[in-house]
Amino acid sequence: MTSDTIRERKSVRTYQEKAIDGESMSQIRNFLTEVGNPFGVPIRFDILDAKRDKVSSPVILGADTYVAGSYKRQENAELAFGYSFEKFVLYASELGLGTVWLAATIDRKAFEKAINLQPDEVMPAVSPLGYAAEKRSVRESLMRKGMKSDARNSFESLFFQGDFEHPLRREEAGKWEKPLEMVRLAPSATNKQPWRAVVDADAVHFYEVKTRGYANETTGDVQKVDLGIALCHFEIAANEEGIAGRFVRKDPQLVTTENTEYIASYRPEV
Ligand SMILES: Cc1cc2nc3c(=O)[nH]c(=O)nc-3n(C[C@H](O)[C@H](O)[C@H](O)COP(=O)(O)O)c2cc1C
Repeated sequence: MTSDTIRERKSVRTYQEKAIDGESMSQIRNFLTEVGNPFGVPIRFDILDAKRDKVSSPVILGADTYVAGSYKRQENAELAFGYSFEKFVLYASELGLGTVWLAATIDRKAFEKAINLQPDEVMPAVSPLGYAAEKRSVRESLMRKGMKSDARNSFESLFFQGDFEHPLRREEAGKWEKPLEMVRLAPSATNKQPWRAVVDADAVHFYEVKTRGYANETTGDVQKVDLGIALCHFEIAANEEGIAGRFVRKDPQLVTTENTEYIASYRPEV
């Protein structure tokens, strides 16, 4: 998995009516049994057949296959989910298969029934899986326009140096430039981009800036899932740059604005 895959991935909501080839499907199945995350939280993946399992999404055209992800309620579960599910998304992309994270615009009851979701489990999101159609549906194009899906916030507005008072310019980011750029390019629910990072001498600290209405009892905090995606992208690019490190939870107690929650820090090995 590489930063090129991250750069090239885009959400796909319009699919060709074409079955996924057997070899790719078995690679996906294997991958889903192996994919882990730094939080040690097991993620369950179920592969569903849209017709047989009677699952659907009003924003998806032409997809026969869906992948649903779920976890047992526990600490760090949303982060772990975001990390592992994004690994699947990027892996699928490398096989030439389209996906799109779907948390809201699905027939949730039907999906939860199809995977036999238990009361102590949460299914934050699903994705269709298949070959992208040549042309996006009108609805998909309008959605992308509405959410400005092709744009991202600037580097300096998301990343900081030492504290939240000092924006980090791309030219000053040194070895963190690429890992942070990969965070910037990550997908997020309605493209809200809730991630922030503060770089200091020995770590990169990640934060979630919460939008009201994105966390609830049934689906958990979907913006924490976004943070898990961001950490996945960061680590892929850090490894590519030859940086070895790990995620720890040790709050540096920086002054933050309201609605901003400390998530985790990445510590490079020295
Ligand atoms: C956690 C999460 C939940 C999402 N939920 C939905 C959804 O319910 N419906 C939808 O059409 N897109 C959904 N998206 C896709 C985003 O709208 C999309 O990633 C964003 O607009 C950026 O576009 P891109 O993925 O093409 O870069 C979701 C994305 C994430 C990461």
